[in-house]
Amino acid sequence: MNIRTDAPDRQHPRASLDAEGVRDAYRRWAGVYDAVFGGVSAPGRRRAVAEVNRLPGTRVLEVGVGTGLALPHYRREKRVVGIDLSREMLDRAAERVRAEHLGQVVGLAEMDAERMAFADDAFDIAVAMFTASVVPDARRLFAEMSRVVRPGGDLLFVNHFAAEAGPRWWVERTMSPLARLLGWHPDFALRDLLDPEATRVEAMEACPPVGLFTLIRVRNPAAPALLAAA
Ligand SMILES: C[S@@+](CC[C@H](N)C(=O)[O-])C[C@H]1O[C@@H](n2cnc3c(N)ncnc32)[C@H](O)[C@@H]1O
Repeated sequence: MNIRTDAPDRQHPRASLDAEGVRDAYRRWAGVYDAVFGGVSAPGRRRAVAEVNRLPGTRVLEVGVGTGLALPHYRREKRVVGIDLSREMLDRAAERVRAEHLGQVVGLAEMDAERMAFADDAFDIAVAMFTASVVPDARRLFAEMSRVVRPGGDLLFVNHFAAEAGPRWWVERTMSPLARLLGWHPDFALRDLLDPEATRVEAMEACPPVGLFTLIRVRNPAAPALLAAA
């Protein structure tokens, strides 16, 4: 798969998109998010939720739940908690839960995914859809998801990862200074999320359209080591 795992000219964490930048960006996006991004991201989102539904365990955390586009697709047996930094995005998710009577959604909370208020091992599964390239520090996100999921549980990510070369690589590199305006990092690489040498990726699958997005599943490793490394 043509995913760039190196990030030779960048240090963690990135400074260009901090928590206030995320809130600003998604305050602007909230009203049009579903219309602009809902369609192109739908196959990846459906695939990630199908994987969550297939996995054992009912306690599910959706990180960066946004307007709640995924929420209607979780099986009724799951118990889903969604968190997000953006009040405006969460308001739309809450409206969806009310309008569609989504009993599987047991909580929505305004919370920073890099500093979650949940206890260790509180969930069986954590999933972040199109969120890892938005958070200011994706390694910190990964460590926190690992902490709140029980050992042996599952961490899932569906995201766009930067190309290695070619026209897409050029476009992503050229767009990277616009992260604050866009609300995500166009040049986000897999290595920005996890250390490929230290973390075993159980499954990696390209998702439509044209493999633009990738679904990744990681069996939750021991959290303390990850937190120390973050
Ligand atoms: C591109 S949207 C994806 C929304 C949703 N997952 C979807 O599939 O449509 C990214 C979301 O991540 C949220 N987000 C970014 N950084 C976050 C953080 N540190 N903690 C919680 N949510 C965050 C944003 O507010 C935004 O709603």
